[in-house]
Amino acid sequence: MRRVRRSIASGGALEGKAALITGASSGIGFAIAKAFAKAGARCILIALDPVAGARAVEELSLEGSRVELCLADVSDARRVRDLSGEIAGRYSRIDVLVNNAGVFLDEDRAMPASRVDDAVVQRTLAVNLFGALHVCSAFDPLLFAGSRIINISSVMGQLSRRSDGYAPAYRLSKSALNSYTQSLAADLRNRGVMVDSMHPGWVKTAIGGPQAEIDAEDAIETAFYLATRPPSDATGLFWWDCEIIRW
Ligand SMILES: NC(=O)c1ccc[n+]([C@@H]2O[C@H](COP(=O)([O-])OP(=O)(O)OC[C@H]3O[C@@H](n4cnc5c(N)ncnc54)[C@H](OP(=O)(O)O)[C@@H]3O)[C@@H](O)[C@H]2O)c1
Repeated sequence: MRRVRRSIASGGALEGKAALITGASSGIGFAIAKAFAKAGARCILIALDPVAGARAVEELSLEGSRVELCLADVSDARRVRDLSGEIAGRYSRIDVLVNNAGVFLDEDRAMPASRVDDAVVQRTLAVNLFGALHVCSAFDPLLFAGSRIINISSVMGQLSRRSDGYAPAYRLSKSALNSYTQSLAADLRNRGVMVDSMHPGWVKTAIGGPQAEIDAEDAIETAFYLATRPPSDATGLFWWDCEIIRW
């Protein structure tokens, strides 16, 4: 962690790289975009809300960062495909793709696993799982040896941890996302594309709530590490605080 913090502070670690971050107008996605841009990356911020997206881009541009805003609902496969076509006209490759967009529905917080509401599960999977699937499939032509995909997952999707049953739809979505990370990593290994899942910690955002343990700016080290670590065959892993954790 200390080495990663030094690398972030010294700057330039992502100079010349292009990064695409979904759900980048707020919370952890915004903090990741800010850190990557500060390190020299050109950042494409994918946002759902045009006002919040414009505000995020303005704040980063004022700091001198090279950022651009693209609006998309990641659960809309056609929109994501169109967006990839638009971006392919301006970028020859994406070096770092961060699937961060996510939802944690209020109804899920009160939903027992024995009586799930299909609609709550479907709306959760539409963003947390299918969103990542759409983005990875659509942007696949822009991934090359050295590119990396970082899926923002959660220890709530960790099957090796005993569940307290809270929020079954969210848990399901993150377990499924982790499974997809493993499949995709195996598929892309021969092309030199690294794919990993990570837990950002319990973070003070709209999803984490005000009682969470850390601020979004303090939740970016693992993403930064995964974006900047040397190319490796050790991919398809689950990370937290720059360490590998169990699935
Ligand atoms: N906070 C935590 O403690 C914690 C812990 C573990 C994992 N995570 C994960 O971290 C990621 C970021 O969450 P956060 O905590 O930073 O909460 P957040 O501030 O609510 O961020 C979620 C982002 O996803 C965007 N989004 C939601 N639905 C979308 C869609 N259909 N298409 C495109 N973008 C969409 C949101 O945009 P709008 O605001 O416009 O809806 C928002 O920018 C999520 O995947 C979450 O599951 C968070």
